[in-house]
Parts: sequence; C-alpha cells; structure tokens
Amino acid sequence: MTHPSTPSTPSTPSASSTSSTSKVVLITGASSGIGEATARRLAAAGHHVVLGARRTDRLAALTKEIESQSGSALAHELDVTDPASTQSFVAAAHDRYGRVDVLVNNAGVMPLSRLDALRVDEWNHMIDVNLRGVLHGIAAVLPIMSAQGGGHIVNISSVSGLRVDPTAAVYSATKHAVRALSEGLRQESRELRVTVISPGLTRSELTDSIGDSTVRDAVQGQMGIAIPAAAIGKAAPMVTEQQVRAWVEGYVRAWTSSSKKDITALFTPQAEYHERPYETDWIGREAIIDGWLGRTPWQEGGWEFEWSVLTINGDTAAIEGTGRYKELGTFANLWTVTLDKNGKCTMFRMWNNQI
Ligand SMILES: NC(=O)c1ccc[n+]([C@@H]2O[C@H](COP(=O)([O-])OP(=O)(O)OC[C@H]3O[C@@H](n4cnc5c(N)ncnc54)[C@H](OP(=O)(O)O)[C@@H]3O)[C@@H](O)[C@H]2O)c1
Repeated sequence: MTHPSTPSTPSTPSASSTSSTSKVVLITGASSGIGEATARRLAAAGHHVVLGARRTDRLAALTKEIESQSGSALAHELDVTDPASTQSFVAAAHDRYGRVDVLVNNAGVMPLSRLDALRVDEWNHMIDVNLRGVLHGIAAVLPIMSAQGGGHIVNISSVSGLRVDPTAAVYSATKHAVRALSEGLRQESRELRVTVISPGLTRSELTDSIGDSTVRDAVQGQMGIAIPAAAIGKAAPMVTEQQVRAWVEGYVRAWTSSSKKDITALFTPQAEYHERPYETDWIGREAIIDGWLGRTPWQEGGWEFEWSVLTINGDTAAIEGTGRYKELGTFANLWTVTLDKNGKCTMFRMWNNQI
C-alpha cells in the first residue's frame, strides 16, 4: 500500500522572492489582525499579495516590510461597503498582474451587543461590511475568474458562523450568511474553489469595534485564551497552496486501496475506530476550514468520498469527510483524520450516520 505523500507544512515567514508558481492573492482587511498575518505568510511563501483596507498608512508600512524581505506586495485603499471601491481594488490588482488567482474576503467588524440594546446602526454596519462586503468582493472577481477559467475565493467566517451566543446574534447572522453564500457559490461552479475559514477567538483589533462598553470589557477579558492572529494566518496559505488537498487526496488513496481491516493497521498505534453519532466541539480549535477540499471520482462499487472540513489546531490538522453510496444515497460515513505537522495520522475516527 502506498502511503500518502507528506505535504510540506508552511514554515515561519522568511525572506523569499516570487516565482512562476506565485499566485496573485488579494486580501481585504489586510491592515491588521488576521488579514495582516495572512498577508505576511503568503508573501513569505512567494506570492504576490494585494492588500486592501481603509487605513492606507498601515498598508504602506506592511508593503514596505514585505518588500524589505524580498516579497511582493501592492497596497490599495479599499472600503468593502462600497462596490465601486471594491471594483477599483480588484482592477488595480488585475492591471498590475494580469490575473487574480485568490481573493481572501477577510474584512470584518464585530460590534457585539444584546438585541434589546437596539444599536441598529451597528447591526447595519456589520451587515454592510461582513456580508455585503463579501458579496462585493465576489462580484468584482467572478468575471475575471470566469474568463481565466478558474480561481479561488476564501471567505473568513467564524465559529460564530457555526453557533450563536448572546450579544452575537447579528454578528453570527452575518457569519452564517457568509457560510451559506459560500456553499451556494461552491455548488454553482466546479471550476471555482471556495473555502470558508472559521477561526475561534483570535487576538486582533476586532473587539475595538464593540461600542457597548460592558460587552467590550467582557470579551476583552477573555483575550488571555485567544489564538494569536499569526496562527490563523497559516490557514489561507495552506488552502491556497493546495497542501490540504494533497493531504486529502493522499488519504483518499490510502483509504481506497485498503479494506476496513487494513485501516486499523494503517493508522495504528493511536488509531481509534468508533461507530457513533456525529458530534463535534468547535470551541478551542484554531481554525475550521470548510469547503470543497477534495472529492474522489465515483468508485467501481458506486461510492465516493468528499472532504469538506479541516481543522487546524497548532501543529495538527483534522479533516472530516463524508462517504456517499449511490445505492444507499441517504447514508454517509463521517470520519475524522488527525494529522501531525509531518502529515502522519495520529487519530482516525469513523462512524456511520444517516443523513
Ligand atoms: N478576532 C477574532 O476573534 C475572529 C474570530 C473569527 C473570525 N474573525 C474574522 O476575521 C476577520 C478579520 O478580523 P480580525 O480579527 O483580524 O480583526 P481586525 O484586526 O479588527 O481586522 C479587521 C480588518 O477589517 C478591515 N475593515 C473593516 N472595515 C472595513 C471596510 N469597510 N473596508 C475594508 N476593510 C475593512 C480593517 O481595516 P481598516 O479599518 O483599515 O479598513 C482591518 O484590516 C473578520 O472578518 C472577523 O469577523 C475574527
């Protein structure tokens, strides 16, 4: 049996220059937090990053820093609530490089409050930035990606796109909406790759936008357990550089070339085999990546596997997938593979479920 090849894990940012495999990656909200960390990481990996935000002084400083390390960056003012501004941001990238490979829709705000506080302007602002902003980004790149015959849209949602908490009703609604429209986009195009990254609580400037001081103090009090933005900055490079796909496809090959009995041998010594209902705990994980990561062709016996969720947690990554059977269309095997930083499986879980 052939073991899957081990993809290289993103290394710490270091000086690097671009090459023919460099991608043109546009990042909204690149002036701080996750967007800034993502830009550093992608530039260090040799991609051309195009940085958008309203605070152009921050973008200029980041561009200078990236260029001083032989990276490639272009800064452009961007207000994602304005379709014309978003079009001009994308056009600047296209004019400079002649293509747009990846758009990371990252810009976001999170003025949390209880609904009965009636901070209606803040609700609308969240909808304008977190939801309309993502749609403006999609609208600006879709014609270019269609003409190119492909592209990749990475939308930053949140664990709040998977659950709802008090004071986060509107924020969660916008992040659920981002997941919904990403899924629709994914279904509509096989050429376009669509990925959703859902970080947990991350250290950034996001809580500064909380206008309700009681809520702001409470959230900022939790920052001790928050994830560093640089950790989330690893996620987009992993998906844009197809490392996730390499993992997934490697394990698809391993799976499809083995019987159920062999699986135990394949994943020992820590292997676990469970038959139990699907359950998961999103809290405490660094980033959940959701989208079309890999799909096998239909197999001879009439089944296929599709992997759609990846969790990056420190140096491990967990992939969750679904097996579909043509004859028993309503059944699925849901399973999780946990890989260490070398791509070795440290945990294999599988359970049957009816969906
Ligand atoms: N921090 C967390 O705990 C967490 C968890 C899950 C998901 N997220 C998501 O991650 C994304 C990045 O947030 P972050 O945590 O890195 O917060 P951050 O440090 O506050 O960064 C937010 C970025 O969005 C930009 N932005 C805000 N409004 C904009 C607008 N109208 N047009 C263009 N850019 C705009 C900001 O730039 P300018 O102000 O310069 O325009 C800034 O660069 C957001 O979508 C957020 O919802 C964060």
